[in-house]
Parts: sequence; C-alpha cells; structure tokens
Amino acid sequence: MRKYTICCGFLLIFLDCSRATFNCSAPPNFNNFDINTCCRTPELDMGDVPQKCHKYVSGLKSSNSKYPSYAHLCYPDCIYRETGAMVNGKIKVDRVKQYLEEHVHRRDQDIVSHIVHSFESCLTNVKGHMKSLNIESYKVLPHGCSPFAGIIYSCVNAETFLNCPAQMWKNERPCNLAKQFAEQCNPLPHVPLPSS
Ligand SMILES: *[C@@H]1O[C@H](CO)[C@@H](O)[C@H](O)[C@H]1NC(C)=O
Repeated sequence: MRKYTICCGFLLIFLDCSRATFNCSAPPNFNNFDINTCCRTPELDMGDVPQKCHKYVSGLKSSNSKYPSYAHLCYPDCIYRETGAMVNGKIKVDRVKQYLEEHVHRRDQDIVSHIVHSFESCLTNVKGHMKSLNIESYKVLPHGCSPFAGIIYSCVNAETFLNCPAQMWKNERPCNLAKQFAEQCNPLPHVPLPSS
C-alpha cells in the first residue's frame, strides 16, 4: 500500500512538472488574440427570446444604454426564464438539454452534451457554495435580479471553454495557452461568488 502511494505521488509530480506552471497574478500576453474564438460558438436559434430579454433589461432601473443588454447581469436570468431552463429560480438541466437539442443547429449538436455537462458541474459547485452559506438562494441585487443565473451562465461558458469538443476547438498556441492558464488559475466555478 505504502509503495503504491509513493509511486502514485511520484507519477503525479512528474505529470505536473511536464506542463508550464503559471504565475496566476500574471496572465500570459495574448497580443490581442481573441480568446473567445478558441471554442467555436454553436449556432443557436433562440427565436424572439433575445429580443424579449433586450426589452426586459432595458426596462430595469439598472439598465445602462452604454452597454449592450447581453452584458447586463440580469440578462442570463431572463434568457433562462424565457427558454424554460429556469423555473422558480431553479435551473432544470433536463430542460436545458431538451432546449439545446431542439435549438442548436444539427451540425453543432456535438457540443450539446458538453454544455449539459458544464451545467451539471457548475450547478453542483454553486449549490455546494450556497449550502456552505446555509442559504436557499442568493440575495436579489439592486440590479433587479438574483446573481444566480448570471453566475451559472459565466461558469458554463468558462467550463465549456475548458471542455470544448476537439472539432470546435482552434488548436493554436494562444488558445492552448489560455486553456492551460485557466485550468491552473481559474478553477470551478470560474467566477467570484457572493458572500450572501
Ligand atoms: C507574479 O506576478 C506578480 C504580478 O506581476 C508579481 O508581483 C509577483 O512577484 C509574481 N510572483 C512570482 C512568484 O513570480
């Protein structure tokens, strides 16, 4: 048993040393390379949902016309509600899966299982955080919504970036570097969580 532990520990150290170790306070310089293009976004037809959510966000007191509505913290909250992915503040992974299967273009269906898996990982992580705070939901912010949907949305994007299907991944140096940096320096849930 002891011998096994030692061998295994040695192997892990060896594997860890085989990849670059980053200083997490100093991200690599990507020279304006757009990292968002590394994992190709699937073609997704959401019908009139974006239009509805644009209207919803524009009507909030916290709305700021200087920024696009999709950048508003409450935009994902609206998207998940309008697509039926979120019911009474709870995200239903089976509804997410069904929605994506019906609305992602056929040629991009490969990514659906990856996105669904990201939802599962992110929900488990964030719900664990809520449990550790002993709360059922995060406080509604002055923005006009709970940050929960926005947190899940950002987490799912980051997690799907890390688990992008090979055929949608741009196998270029800045992309692989960004992925390695995120793996080491930005673990789940990939976003800061509120303290209440
Ligand atoms: C990491 O980067 C920060 C910011 O550039 C720097 O202040 C710090 O000294 C670096 N740490 C190490 C261990 O190199």
